[in-house]
Formats: sequence, C-alpha cells, structure tokens
Amino acid sequence: MSPNSYHRRIVTDREALSESYVPTIILARDSQIRELTTCLSPALEHKKPIHAWLYGPPGSGKTCVARYVLSQINQHHTLRHAYINCWNYPTLYSILDKVAQEIRLLGPEIQSTAVKLDKFRKAVGAKPFILVLDEIDKVLPKERNAILYSLSGIPGLGLICIAGNRQSFCILEDRVKSRFNPKLIEFKPYSDKELTVICSLRGELALEAEACSQGTLKEISRLAEGDARCAIQTLNIACQYAEREGSRLLVHTHVKQGWSRACELKAVYTLGALSDHHKLLYELVKGKTDLLSGDLWRLYLETCRARGMKPIAMRTFSVYMNRLIREGLVTGKRAPIRGKVRIFKIRK
Ligand SMILES: Nc1ncnc2c1ncn2[C@@H]1O[C@H](COP(=O)(O)OP(=O)(O)OP(=O)(O)O)[C@@H](O)[C@H]1O
Ligand SMILES: [Mg+2]
Repeated sequence: MSPNSYHRRIVTDREALSESYVPTIILARDSQIRELTTCLSPALEHKKPIHAWLYGPPGSGKTCVARYVLSQINQHHTLRHAYINCWNYPTLYSILDKVAQEIRLLGPEIQSTAVKLDKFRKAVGAKPFILVLDEIDKVLPKERNAILYSLSGIPGLGLICIAGNRQSFCILEDRVKSRFNPKLIEFKPYSDKELTVICSLRGELALEAEACSQGTLKEISRLAEGDARCAIQTLNIACQYAEREGSRLLVHTHVKQGWSRACELKAVYTLGALSDHHKLLYELVKGKTDLLSGDLWRLYLETCRARGMKPIAMRTFSVYMNRLIREGLVTGKRAPIRGKVRIFKIRK
C-alpha cells in the first residue's frame, strides 16, 4: 500500500450506509406504503385507525416503511405515535413502561400492569395514537395474545405490528384475532432488479462517483437474495476492504469479502433471538461440512451431556432444525438414502 493510498476514501457519507439511516425515498414499496397510509388515515379525522400487521422476510423494508409513513404523515399533521422494538420489551408490562417513558406519563415507578394499562388508556383518550410494535413475533405466543388483546381494545389506539411471517398472526387466539382484526400487509423479498436500484440510489448518496460499477451493484444484489439490509451491508463492508487496500474502485474480491462478513453478521443477528439449543445446533452444523440428521442428533446429545445442558426431545429437535432452515441459517436437503434422513449444511 502506498503512503497516499491509505487516505483514499470511497465512502463520502458513512451514515447513509448505516442501519439507522432512514431513506427519504423508498423504492418498490408503493403498494405497501399506500395500504399502510390508508390504515392510518382515519386518525387524521380523529377516528380510530385500522390496525396493521406488516409481515415479510428480513430486509424486505417493513421497519423502514412503517417509519417512513409515520414521518410523511407528520410532515403535515401531528399524529401522536411511539415505536417499540418488542425484542427489547417482550411483555405487556415492559411495553407499557416504555410507552409511558416515551410520552412522559409520570407516576410512581412500580405499578401493576392493570394500573399502567389504565393510565395509558386515559392518556390516549379519544385522540388517535399510533403504536408500532416491531418484532412482535419475538414475544412468546401467550404474552403476544395478552399484549394484542389488551392494547387493541383501547379506543383511539392504532397498532402497527411488524413480524417475520403471517404465521405468527394466524396462531393468535380467536378472541384476539377478532378484536384486533388488522389489515395484513405483505412484504415479499425484493427482486434482484429492485435491489440493484435500491443499492444504486444508496451508492449515489454515500459513495464517490464511479467507485462502484453497475455490474458490481448487480453482483451485490444477486448475492443478497432479496434482503436490502444484506445488500447495503455488503456494499458498506466491501468499501471498507477496498479503502484498506487503497483502491478507489470496488471489485469482485471486495464484494465477496463484504458479502461473507454481512452473512456472518446476519447469522449473529438472527441467532440472537433464538434459544441456546438453536445456537448449539447451529454451532454443531457449522463445525462440519455435511451432517446427516442422525449424526447431528447424536452429536447434540453428547455435547449437551458434556456441557451439562438438558437436551430437547427428538420431536422438538426437528422443529428447531426447521426453524434454523426457515431463518435462512441452515439448509436441510433430503439425503439420497431411504427414510426421512436429511443433510444439514450452513447456508452460505
Ligand atoms: N425500499 C427500500 N428503499 C430503500 N432502502 C430500503 C428499502 N427497503 C429496505 N431498505 C433499507 O434496508 C435496510 C433493511 O430494511 P428494514 O429494516 O426496513 O427491513 P425489515 O423488513 O424491517 O427487516 P427485519 O425483519 O430484519 O427487521 C434498512 O437499512 C433500509 O434503509
Ligand atoms: Mg425490521
């Protein structure tokens, strides 16, 4: 590396590539933006908003659409709202506590859930209020039922729930579903073309002109498989590798390095929400190139014994492996032998 090259920068605005950046232009999500705006529009006439359930795979734009629609509305109106990530606040009590802080509802620190709920109901009053419950599917089903049943009964309150799939809505108790009755809004994975446009626009904001060719953007989009977070992270990390080499141009090797690191980050993020047994099963599959289901089960039992962990039942083992597959962490193909044997591999 030459002494001058160290100072070469490809990224001119690192913030525009960060997770916290809220894009001012949302591409390829017109119908979802329209549907969510329609749900919230009664609030502008002081009527109860329609609840919404946004669902789709990681990086499909659910959180950014929810934030975008609220910020658009608030440019012309004052619509009271609060955003809660249920991963951090997974109970009705903790949600109410957090909302109370956000809207500065003062009172004694320790109160029962019922008292907190009543205070919140009174604070909302008849004037519309929007509560975003992101990652609602990270809450245990029983608690999820309690949260949605209690909150959807508050007049004036509109809920925007965000989840990874439709299933987490379908398994709600009937009495909850009928009281809550949200508009279901689907977010499909982006196509390669859509991701290329998203990355291209982000590149224009964040990078030196001509640092990244259209071909490179297409490669990033293809690798990201519909996930905008993965695509933008790959672009960001690839730039860091290129800058470290003193290069002014992103090339294939930088993209490969960036993508591989982005995949690792995605796995850590996804595993963070799963149990210790999911994590252990992932770790065991990661330690081998190919693993037959029977061998994985035996290895799992041995490791649990060695670590003093109480193993899950064999039936639960299949459920857990299916979850790892659904989350895109592992692949599980049928083995070319008789019986229900599968070969597990880490998804690259
Ligand atoms: N249509 C889009 N236009 C521009 N940027 C987008 C678009 N969709 C997503 N992004 C960007 O991709 C990243 C991930 O999007 P977002 O957080 O909304 O995904 P998500 O569906 O909520 O994923 P998860 O389920 O993992 O929380 C964000 O940085 C966001 O800025
Ligand atoms: Mg999200």
